[in-house]
Amino acid sequence: MPYLDAPAAALVSVRYFSFIINYIHKAKENPMRHLLNPLDFSVEEIDSLLALARDIEHNLPKYAHVCAGKKLATLFYEPSTRTRLSFEAAMLNLGGSVLGFSSADSSSAAKGESVADTIRMISCYADICAMRHPKEGAAYVAAQKSGIPVINAGDGGHQHPTQTLTDLMTIRSLKGRLDSLTIGLCGDLKFGRTVHSLINAMVRYPNVKFILISPPELRVPDSIREDVLKAKGIPFEEVGNLDEALGQLDILYMTRVQKERFFNEEDYIRLKDCYILNKKKMKLAKEDMFVLHPLPRVNEISVEVDDDPRAAYFRQAQYGVYVRMALIMTLLEVEKPC
Ligand code: CP
Repeated sequence: MPYLDAPAAALVSVRYFSFIINYIHKAKENPMRHLLNPLDFSVEEIDSLLALARDIEHNLPKYAHVCAGKKLATLFYEPSTRTRLSFEAAMLNLGGSVLGFSSADSSSAAKGESVADTIRMISCYADICAMRHPKEGAAYVAAQKSGIPVINAGDGGHQHPTQTLTDLMTIRSLKGRLDSLTIGLCGDLKFGRTVHSLINAMVRYPNVKFILISPPELRVPDSIREDVLKAKGIPFEEVGNLDEALGQLDILYMTRVQKERFFNEEDYIRLKDCYILNKKKMKLAKEDMFVLHPLPRVNEISVEVDDDPRAAYFRQAQYGVYVRMALIMTLLEVEKPC
C-alpha cells in the first residue's frame, strides 16, 4: 500500500468519525449484531464467547456441522495470513462454506467499486462476512449497508477486535485470569491496531496495569492515552527501555513496526529494529511471564526465543481458530450442540 500523506490521513479520520455517528444511529434501527470494535460485546458476552471457544477447543468434532449450509465471505482488501485463513478454517470446522477475495486487486474494488456497493452484493451471496481494509472506519461503512453480520478483521491503524478475542483467550488460558495482570506492550504502539484493541478490552478488568514500551515516535495515540487510560484512571507507564520493564511483566505483547502505515520510509528504517527480544533478554523476565505477538513478526523476536516455554505466539494463533468459530456461531445465533 502507498504511504498515506498527512492530509489524506486527516480526511480519513474526519470521514471515519461521521461514519461512526451514522453507524450508531442505524444500529438503533437495525438490531443485527456486528463485531466492529472490541467494546461491541459486554464483559459478560466476552466471558460467554470465551467459554464457548474453550468448549470448542476440547470438543471440536461436536461442532462439525453446526453451520452446515451457511457461508462466510472473507473480504480482504489488505494482506493477511492468520486472520483470513483462521476465519476460513473456523467456518470449515463448523461445516459451513467460504468464499471471498484476498486482495483489492482481485476484486472489483480495482475498478472503483465502493465498500458500500460491495457489501450489498455480498449480502446476497453469504450469511456473514469478515472484512479487512486499510482505511479506518471501513467496516463501519460496510455494516451500515449490510444485510448480514460484518466482522471487522482489521481497519487501518484503528482496531482488530478478533485479534483481541484471540489475545484474551490466550491470556486466560495461560494465566487463568484476565484481571490483576501487568501487561507490557512493546514496539509500534502508534500504528499497531492490535495494541489499541487490546488496551480497550483489558481496561474493563480490575487491577490491570500497562507498561507501554516504545520509542517516542511510536507511542500510543492520544485516543488511547487520554480517552481510555487517563479517562478511566488505569495505571500505566510509558517507557523506552525494554530490559528495565521485563522483570515486572506477567504478559509481554510484542508488536511489529507497521511499515505499511508510515508516512515515509526513512522513519521506518530508523525505527524498525528498535526492540529485538532474544534469549539474553528473556533471562530478565519472570518464569511465569508469557510472550504474545499477533504475528507476523519481522525481527522483533529472535527465532531463538521460539523454543522457550514462555513463547506463546504460535499457540495464540491456534486459539484464533477456536475463538473465531465461537464468534461465527454467536453472530449467526447458532445453538450450541448438546
Ligand atoms: N495477526 C494478524 O492479523 O495476522 P495477519 O495479518 O496474517 O492476518
